[in-house]
Amino acid sequence: MLRSNRQSGISDWDGMRYDFVCPSPTHYPFQWFWDSAFHAIALLHIDPELSRQELRCLMQGAQSNGFQGHMLLWERDAHKRWLNEEYSIRLAHPFYTATIQPPVVARAVERIFEVTGDKAFVREILPPMVRFFDWLARVRDPDDDGLIAIIQPDESGLDASPKYDKAMRIPYDPPTHTLPALQQSMQRLFDAYKGATAEAQPLLDVFLFEDVMVNAIYADGLRALARLSRAVGAPEPDRFERASQRTLDALMAKCWDADAGLFWDLSGVAEERARVLTFTSLFPLILPDLDAAVAKRLVREHLLNEKEFWLPYPVPSVAASEVTFDPAWQTKTTWQGPTWVNVNWYLYWGLRAHGFDDIASELARRTVAMQARGGIREFYDPFTAEGYGATDFGWSCLSLDLIAAETSG
Ligand code: GLC
Repeated sequence: MLRSNRQSGISDWDGMRYDFVCPSPTHYPFQWFWDSAFHAIALLHIDPELSRQELRCLMQGAQSNGFQGHMLLWERDAHKRWLNEEYSIRLAHPFYTATIQPPVVARAVERIFEVTGDKAFVREILPPMVRFFDWLARVRDPDDDGLIAIIQPDESGLDASPKYDKAMRIPYDPPTHTLPALQQSMQRLFDAYKGATAEAQPLLDVFLFEDVMVNAIYADGLRALARLSRAVGAPEPDRFERASQRTLDALMAKCWDADAGLFWDLSGVAEERARVLTFTSLFPLILPDLDAAVAKRLVREHLLNEKEFWLPYPVPSVAASEVTFDPAWQTKTTWQGPTWVNVNWYLYWGLRAHGFDDIASELARRTVAMQARGGIREFYDPFTAEGYGATDFGWSCLSLDLIAAETSG
C-alpha cells in the first residue's frame, strides 16, 4: 500500500523532482507535513532509503526564513478540482499552504537515525529542521512563554476536533455537527488574516490556541534535535534541550490541572482553558521527562478509564464522556471520536518511556486487532473497529513500527 500511494515525477514548481507517499490517492493526493513524517517511520520497515527519500522530498518545501507549509502541491494541476472543493486551504504560494502542521519531522529523523545510524543524512537534514523550529519560536510564540500557538484548527492536524468549537463559535448541533459551521467560521479567520504578514497574524487573536498536543510534539522534537545534534557534532545541542525543558515547564505551569489530573489547551491571548476532554489532554505522556507522578495520573485516572479512553479499541480522539463524542462517524468529519493510529503510536512510545510496558503492549495488540478488522483506513470506531474515512491511509501503517517494537522486545 505504501508503494502504491507513492507519487513521483517533475513538478511545475521550479522543475523540482518529487517522490513521496501521499496519505491516500483517492482522498489526499498531495504531500502533507506530519503525514510524511509518519510515513517515513513506517517506511523504515520496508526500505530505509524510502524513508530518507520521503523526508528529502518534504524538505524541498523548506523556505529560507524557516517556514514550511503543511501541504506541498507537487501535482497541483492534476488535482485542481480537489483544491477548489476544499474549504480550508490558505495558500502562501501557488505550490504550498500558509498553514503549518506539528513538527513530527524531528522525531522521524531520530527514528531513522536509530535504525540506520546514518550520520550523513542527519547532517543534511538538520539545518532546515532547525530553521523551522526557530521559525515556530520566533513567529508562533508571541507571548514568549515557551508554548507555540496555532492560528487555525487545521494547524494541529486535528481539524474538526470539538475542543476548538468554542473558539470557532460553533454551536453543538448533532448529528451533522460542525461541517457547515466550520466552513463559515474558517472563512471568518481567513478574512481576518488577509493582508496581514505571517508575523502579524497570531497577534490578531482571532483564533490562537496553545494546543497541548502540538506543544508536546514540539518539546519532543526539540529533544530530538538536541540528541541528533549531539550525535553528529552539530552546534547548539544544549540550546534545544533548554528550549524543550522550557516548553515542558510551561505545560506544567499553565496547562496541568492538578484537580482533574490532566492537561488543557489554552485559548486566545487570555489563555482560557478549553475544557473539552480529548486525547490531547494525555499527550505530554510522550515526553520522557514528564514527572513520573503526573504520568501515572494520566494513565491510571484517564487512559485506563473505561468511561473515557479505555474502550475496546482505544484511544478515541474524544473521550466517551463528552457530549460531542461521535464514535460511529455520524458527523462525517474528523477527530470527533474515532481512533487514529498516529495517536496510538505516540502514546505507545510514551507508555514505554514511563515504564508502562504492559499497557503499551496491550495498546499495540488492540491497534493491530482493530486494523485486522477494519482494514487500513483513516480512523476507526473505538467500539467495533469499523474503518471510516479515507481508504489506504498512509500513517495507519505506523502499526508496522508497533509490531517491530513488540517483536524485538
Ligand atoms: C486530515 C487530517 C489531517 C491530515 C490530512 C491528510 O485533514 O485531519 O491531520 O494531515 O487529513 O491526511
